[in-house]
Amino acid sequence: MGAIIDALTELQHEHGHLRSGDLEALAARLGVPLYRIEGLVSFYPHFRREPPPRVEVALCRDVSCRLAGGRDFCARARQALASVPGVSVREVSCIGRCDTAPAAAINEHPVHAADLAALVARASEAPAAAAAITEGPAPTRRWASDPYGSEDERYGVLASLRARGASAEEIIQTLKDSGLRGMGGAGFPTGLKWEVVRKEPARPKYIVCNADESEPGTFKDRLVLDELPHLMLEGMAIAALVIGAEEGIVFIRHEYGPERARLARALDEARRRGALGKDALGKDRPFDVRIAVSPGGYILGEETALLECLEDRRGEPRNKPPYPGQRGLYGQPTLLNNVETLSYVPIILKEGPEAWKARGVRGATGLKFIALSGDVERPGVYQVPMGTTIGELVALAGGTRDGKPILAIAPGGASSNFLHGDAVDAPLDFKALAERGSMLGSGAVLVVAEGGDIVDLAANVVAFFRNESCGKCVPCRVGTEKAVTMLERAVEGRGSKRHLALLPELAETLAETSICGLGQVAIAPFLSVMRTFEGEVRARFTEE
Ligand SMILES: Cc1cc2nc3c(=O)[nH]c(=O)nc-3n(C[C@H](O)[C@H](O)[C@H](O)COP(=O)(O)O)c2cc1C
Ligand code: SF4
Repeated sequence: MGAIIDALTELQHEHGHLRSGDLEALAARLGVPLYRIEGLVSFYPHFRREPPPRVEVALCRDVSCRLAGGRDFCARARQALASVPGVSVREVSCIGRCDTAPAAAINEHPVHAADLAALVARASEAPAAAAAITEGPAPTRRWASDPYGSEDERYGVLASLRARGASAEEIIQTLKDSGLRGMGGAGFPTGLKWEVVRKEPARPKYIVCNADESEPGTFKDRLVLDELPHLMLEGMAIAALVIGAEEGIVFIRHEYGPERARLARALDEARRRGALGKDALGKDRPFDVRIAVSPGGYILGEETALLECLEDRRGEPRNKPPYPGQRGLYGQPTLLNNVETLSYVPIILKEGPEAWKARGVRGATGLKFIALSGDVERPGVYQVPMGTTIGELVALAGGTRDGKPILAIAPGGASSNFLHGDAVDAPLDFKALAERGSMLGSGAVLVVAEGGDIVDLAANVVAFFRNESCGKCVPCRVGTEKAVTMLERAVEGRGSKRHLALLPELAETLAETSICGLGQVAIAPFLSVMRTFEGEVRARFTEE
């Protein structure tokens, strides 16, 4: 992060909030105008100008948690804690713990709903008041592989590439042959992206690992960071070898505190093993990685908003082109990849592209981490062969909750179009899901069982995008607000038929005029519900 946002984060850590005098002193110390600092403080949701309550309970209001009864849970928590002095309950955007939905945090520490009552009681020393909060399910984790049998073997692929002087072209070709595509949502071919950045003549170059995952339903990178951070760091070091970079940055959401601590330990280990540091890429060929903590907001996952933040500006996406590979951080060529994408690089180079491809099924290539949430017995992160069907994934998770039939599926997180429940035969793969009219996204499957209120859930998704719009483009800023107003009425059963007819046009306007993916897809999930569940939607838009 730049000096300003880092300093703000430190000041807030020290005093609990940002005091006016401290901001003035910071402006004088850094020689920047006060309005610039105020502009950052007002943009980023993590910064606060008022002292925090003694105990702050944050409860997620987004789609997976809503499906798990989050709204009632929140109402009960508020009621139970209303009389406890110094305790406040706040609804927040997705905190990346949809596997323990309804997700909660106390003073920014993630907690299980089951533990919430006891923890709040302890924190507030008022046990009786906190007794009425109910339980949430325990998380489940399941995935196939770490290619290293023991800790001693870690970073072995990097060492062997260095030892035999593997060429950048050879590594790029292997990635191309493997069919690896970006796991952050857009699915861009990884080998091609690396080639573009390698060919740029400008120096220095940077590598940024995007660990900001903030879309409702998405939490698979969290577990890679927690359990396999060495693979991601090795992927970054190999990328540095290929493109010729000396500095890498992992940009991580601030809600991932425990994972950040784990990552910091992994960085120490990588330095001890010589995979980072002065001779990381060969004699006197340094490469090191630092952690930048996001000051908040889903939009920072968009690659150019992320870069703006790293440059100490408000996180508003840039117009593209130029792409980050050409002009990224500080205008220099920057390779930006997702956590999971980078973690696959050492595996592919160890196994070879053919073996990697063969790990997929039904013509798809490789493995995929999927975050599975919603109405299943064991929500969690599952690593499956790419091409696994949604039905097979749900079976791995113990089936649907209470064996109920599936009503609808969002196969790629909140921004993906909802499919009808009979799409359980759809393979989890970029191409197959696009053919079904949805997308794999970053790999986040949300299952809605019969009895779920699909209109309410789709409206909740649009509200998430409204809440998280950065406001730079007028159509996105105003259009999402209009859509939410229309949909709120519909959720209450008082939707206007005129509004229903307007929604497709509004969605099209946003798709065509928004500069980033958020605005482009903000209303699309609701439109998919209009197409697939026409009767249910019409029944909510009954007024003239
Ligand atoms: C609104 C928005 C949010 C995004 N959030 C993330 C994110 O949290 N993590 C991520 O890796 N990519 C995210 N992306 C995609 C990134 O812009 C970028 O394509 C990706 O990080 C590139 O890495 P990859 O090629 O390895 O997928 C987001 C895109 C948009 C439009
Ligand atoms: S589309 Fe929305 S989120 Fe994206 S840049 Fe425009 S206003 Fe910001």
